[in-house]
Amino acid sequence: MIKVLITGGAGFIGSHVVRRMVNSYPQYHIFNLDALTYAGNLENLKDVASAANYTFVKGDITDAAFVQNLFAQHDFTYVIHLAAESHVDRSISNPIAFVMTNVVGTVNLLNAAKHVWSGSFEGRRFYHVSTDEVYGALGETGMFTEETKYDPHSPYSASKASSDHFVRAYHDTYGLPVVISNCSNNYGSHHFPEKLIPLAIHNIKNNKPIPVYGKGENVRDWLWVEDHARAIDVILHKGKNGETYNIGGHNEWKNIDLIHLLCKIMDKKLGRAQGESAKLITFVKDRAGHDMRYAIDATKLKSDLGWVPSLQFEEGLEKTVDWYLSNQEWLDHVTSGEYKKYYTDQYEKR
Ligand code: NAD
Ligand code: TYD
Repeated sequence: MIKVLITGGAGFIGSHVVRRMVNSYPQYHIFNLDALTYAGNLENLKDVASAANYTFVKGDITDAAFVQNLFAQHDFTYVIHLAAESHVDRSISNPIAFVMTNVVGTVNLLNAAKHVWSGSFEGRRFYHVSTDEVYGALGETGMFTEETKYDPHSPYSASKASSDHFVRAYHDTYGLPVVISNCSNNYGSHHFPEKLIPLAIHNIKNNKPIPVYGKGENVRDWLWVEDHARAIDVILHKGKNGETYNIGGHNEWKNIDLIHLLCKIMDKKLGRAQGESAKLITFVKDRAGHDMRYAIDATKLKSDLGWVPSLQFEEGLEKTVDWYLSNQEWLDHVTSGEYKKYYTDQYEKR
């Protein structure tokens, strides 16, 4: 029996990875380790919760003893590590939480794998899921490749860069079988509405201002989350130890253009006159240290492992809007409680 540990499986991307692994590999047993922070939500996994090859474990990766015990108890073959504090704006107001989970939590997992796997790394793999934000910001041209020097600017990207360095250090120092991927911005269902796309969908639906930072000229490269989950599956099974793979959509959008496209789709779906939702666009104070442009060159992943994105952005965005419009209960649950305070602090006190 191949046991797979997925950390952060109750979050946005993690839930798509868990679903894919549970459904595609009945011969594997999938363990989802998640602390269920504000970003973790078991409702994301209702459809697989009772699958015979799935177990949820509530726990915190910053707790070294707990992590060691879990590894000692289960002889994991693969680890797919996604658990993280993931929102740049939160990292600006509370960097320490990012150091704890993203850096200390990652090193706890590496230590446990090294300890429990010692003497038998054969066939094992520690897969660290990271971000393109570690490479810093681009000007109008160029793309991030796997050789681009790290140059993180936000506390979030600095913590992810640090965790990437630790993962490589465990490979180079102890021979731990690791693989890393750095992906561009994801979008799709189950995305917590603190990030641009789900926040805008939620606000448009409720006729609330759509906050656009600065002039809306920053550029992001958007990838459908299920394409990311598929890339993770391919890299887990076919990637080479010690390698890094960039994952991206070749799909760059200026924030303001993306918001206009979203408004157009929402007008259509909500039966509003064209142009109605765009009236909600509100330019607000820019994010501190706001990276201007991200763009990923995913050539290596295509040429070495044959992965390419499957969905066009307009199609994916429409699917995403449909999901949010038909999952009001999910949205109600995640936007009650802590979310209200976050929203007031982040947007109404700016
Ligand atoms: P998310 O914030 O939606 O989910 C993070 C999950 O980790 C949550 O379920 C949370 O409960 C869990 N978690 C947080 N702290 C924990 C702890 N101490 N112990 C155990 N579990 C904990 O994040 P996401 O957007 O799904 O991102 C997942 C991973 O992918 C992260 O490592 C992130 O850096 C990376 N990534 C994200 C994007 C993106 O666009 N969202 C792009 C590239 C890479
Ligand atoms: P976000 O979804 O937070 O992802 P990241 O910062 O990891 O790229 O933000 C995407 C882009 O949208 C980024 O340039 C910041 C901008 N943005 C806004 O303009 N308004 C918002 O309310 C948010 C959350 C983001």
